[in-house]
Amino acid sequence: MTTRTFVTLLLTLALLLAHCAPTPRTSTTYHDTFSTAAVAADHHLASNAGAQMLAQGGNAVDAAVAASFTLSAVRPYSCGIGGGGFMVIALPNDPTHGHVLTAINHRETSPYGPTYYADSGNSSTIGGAAVAIPGTVAGLLYALETYGTLDRATVLQPAIEAARTGFVVDPHYESMAHRLTQRFNQNPEAKQRFPLVWNHFLKQGTLSVGQTITNEPQARALQLIADHGASAFYEGPIAKAIIEAIDQTGGHMTPDQLAHYQPDETEPLTHTIVRRTYITMPPPSSGGITMLQTLLLLSPHIDPIQATTPEHEHLLVEALKHSFADRARLLADPNFVEIPLDTMLHETTLAPIAETLDTPTTHTPDFYGTNTQLPDDSGTSHVSVIDQWGGAVALTETINLEFGSLVGVDEFGFVLNNEMDDFTTIPNEPNAFGLIQSNRNLPEPGKRPLSSMSPTIVLDLDGHVKLVAGASGGPRIITSTLQVLLTTLRTNDPALAITRPRLHHQWQPNAVFIESPQTPSDYPHLLKRGHEIRTRTDIGNVQIIAVDGNTLKAASDPNKNGRPAGLD
Ligand code: GLY
Repeated sequence: MTTRTFVTLLLTLALLLAHCAPTPRTSTTYHDTFSTAAVAADHHLASNAGAQMLAQGGNAVDAAVAASFTLSAVRPYSCGIGGGGFMVIALPNDPTHGHVLTAINHRETSPYGPTYYADSGNSSTIGGAAVAIPGTVAGLLYALETYGTLDRATVLQPAIEAARTGFVVDPHYESMAHRLTQRFNQNPEAKQRFPLVWNHFLKQGTLSVGQTITNEPQARALQLIADHGASAFYEGPIAKAIIEAIDQTGGHMTPDQLAHYQPDETEPLTHTIVRRTYITMPPPSSGGITMLQTLLLLSPHIDPIQATTPEHEHLLVEALKHSFADRARLLADPNFVEIPLDTMLHETTLAPIAETLDTPTTHTPDFYGTNTQLPDDSGTSHVSVIDQWGGAVALTETINLEFGSLVGVDEFGFVLNNEMDDFTTIPNEPNAFGLIQSNRNLPEPGKRPLSSMSPTIVLDLDGHVKLVAGASGGPRIITSTLQVLLTTLRTNDPALAITRPRLHHQWQPNAVFIESPQTPSDYPHLLKRGHEIRTRTDIGNVQIIAVDGNTLKAASDPNKNGRPAGLD
């Protein structure tokens, strides 16, 4: 063979291989089907970033990490490198790692002790004192190094590009910006105190759909992380800028506290209920246990997967009232307080409660438990992934409220969380939202606040992934994930499940929340049983992928304008 023929053959082979490499496809709408692998995030650029990793032969962990870093750039008010999160991983048959079933807790930790807010009078929602030690960068890179297959540069590349070239403001961003602009206008001094949010992310109140927001400073931060790993964030120039930003806005975090942040790998909370195994996040997530308790309370009455009748809604609300009361009373960081997880999920505890569900009228809150109400939240973002080997990742991340503490790390284009408000900041007193939580959830240095994030993977009895789901929306994360998940298991139709009206009850306030345009008269069976019904715009934003035979059905909640992506 001549050299020329050999080169021609090589070129032909390279062209053929390039041709064979799957091309990621981003859906044009909120739901789609894919034959090989899928990613559902609440922004199409994040879904696409994940799908690019899958197209390069990466697994679900690579895809989730790429999607999450990209969300940092394109959903800066929900999550990002200044926040934290939870990742549940189920890789039944990964070519590199074999069988993996694990969970990564990269929730932020407290720099402060239990009396900090009472002693200082500082705010746990706005400014430097609201900021907990961020965990996202450490958690994502730990997951990538331990269970991923691609290198940092590859996985961070779409995020760097998204930050550099920007994203187009969509209706969800615009409505958040409109609400927040009103808050800034009511407190004009905040415009000087939080210039990154006001000048850059809100464009001084002039934002509208269609504008492009670029973020070269965040691209620089992401590039440093790609080049040097987590130490670039926790010890390098980014760390210095974080500490300064917190100090200048009324808080205090030491370089040591930041440098010593560690994610926590833990066993997921796993329970088999009526033909399905639920793999979800243990405390300090309250989501997994609250969903499981609700399912276990329902299951003596109905098959939760099959039930769709009005009676089911009353039973669901009653079960939620019990499990949310337990959430408030018992749950916190298990590294600091003992959580009676086994008792909470045991039949002998739940059977007598389950017997009381079918009441002619609902009860007042003290019937379900004593103590407290629950926090609200409007940040947070979720990514669901299923890869070509049937591996799955459910990843939920947050900076807590819209743009977290509003504290910007201006030099690097990101904002810091206000996760301290997920703690009980002052015992027996309401937080900024008029809500109270249990003293088990008081801050302590290194402790993680209680969370509602509910990343969940559902397996069939043979251990195959059937479904991956999770949501944003504060305590409504739990109820929205549960309802969409159950409807999907029943119908195998995530597009239907995600648009079906949802309800929410969190024990206190003692009301069932429904989604507009539904009205209380749409729920006569609940009114008849004495439930107060209130309407709100939406209940959670769910991202879900379900396996139906050889097809992956993905849906990104239209409430947040997301679109899935995947491989055919
Ligand atoms: N920051 C909201 C939550 O973790 O529940």
